[in-house]
Amino acid sequence: MSAEGDLRGDPSRAQPDELAGPFEHGSDFHVFPYRPGGPEATPWRSESAKFYGSGRDAMRHLLRFGVEQRGWKRLLVPDYFCQQVTAALLGNGLQVETYPIGPGEGSRSPIDTLASWGPGDVLLIVNFFGLECPPVLPMLQRRQFEVIEDHTHDPLSPWAHTSGADWCVASLRKTLPLPDGGVLWSPQGHPGPQSPELDPQHQAIALQRFAAMSLKAQYLAGAVPSKLLYRDWMVSTEGRIGSGSPSSISPLSALLLSSFPLQRWREQRGASFAAFCEAFGTSSSAAQILTPVAPGACPLGAVLVLESRRVRDLLRQALISQDVYPAVLWPLDAPVLGPSLPRHVDLSERMLALACDMRYGPRDMQALAALVLTTLERISGSTEGA
Ligand SMILES: Cc1ncc(COP(=O)(O)O)c(C=O)c1O
Repeated sequence: MSAEGDLRGDPSRAQPDELAGPFEHGSDFHVFPYRPGGPEATPWRSESAKFYGSGRDAMRHLLRFGVEQRGWKRLLVPDYFCQQVTAALLGNGLQVETYPIGPGEGSRSPIDTLASWGPGDVLLIVNFFGLECPPVLPMLQRRQFEVIEDHTHDPLSPWAHTSGADWCVASLRKTLPLPDGGVLWSPQGHPGPQSPELDPQHQAIALQRFAAMSLKAQYLAGAVPSKLLYRDWMVSTEGRIGSGSPSSISPLSALLLSSFPLQRWREQRGASFAAFCEAFGTSSSAAQILTPVAPGACPLGAVLVLESRRVRDLLRQALISQDVYPAVLWPLDAPVLGPSLPRHVDLSERMLALACDMRYGPRDMQALAALVLTTLERISGSTEGA
């Protein structure tokens, strides 16, 4: 693993390279050193943006504000979406319904998928896997409802930078090595909710998660032999974050965020994605990689689409047994608001996302592509005639 390896040559530092750490790809971020960024151009202006403990905290606070101050009555969310997030949007004073849209359908305007709309409606549009840039602007010009965009999967995309939405939200902890964090801003300059208070329980969760990230760093460096304790803390904090009253971001994450080289890390993610795609090639008929539909897009990860759920599940298990931890974004078999479109369920059952973030360089991604290809070959050999 070669995360920002440029600090490792500093002779005043202990040399983590001298320890032979275990291999691992994906899963939660650990703490690692980095060269700080300069002034970063973000889609949000720090004076008017509000920073939250999580993406869900940002959304829930905005929804409560919208109901009280802007007459919001109904929220429309994609039927292809994280069901834990959909569940968190319920109970905030407005009716929540799905509308039929999913990844790879970015050339369609979301408005064309709606059966009806009107004043009091709010539409949530998601940049799925950082691949998309739907034709939102024409829609906004003739809108009779407000639009919230979710930029979690690529918060610094050209789409986010040029958005004309009423509101934008992003969970920052999904693409950045932060124990907590989400952001809310209004490209339209609408006055938003008051800054949230820091919930002491949230602060305790963020600190425990940072402890887990630090312990994971020691594990990856080969210093600590077991992952049990930090995994336990990761799972327990993940289960609690975003569920209390909407909190501000922890001071720890606010400080880290202000020092992060956001643009450089985004470029590294793009280079890692490109290296994976090149090495993976089109040689595998058993898997396709979803590619960006938007110019300048920088995918969250390499999203593979396998030929069947069975192959996806076999690949996932085989990769986990080799310490590669892919993500399923998102399981739709227990929908919170009724069934999703069959083609969306089908995609969610055949997809697998591999991390491409700043923790990895092109060589890591080439090695990963080779490992995935070999594993796929082994699987297709063992399932032939089965
Ligand atoms: C697209 C998207 N939006 C929002 C969220 C919610 O973020 P958080 O877990 O920080 O509440 C997630 C989390 O997985 C997500 O993937």
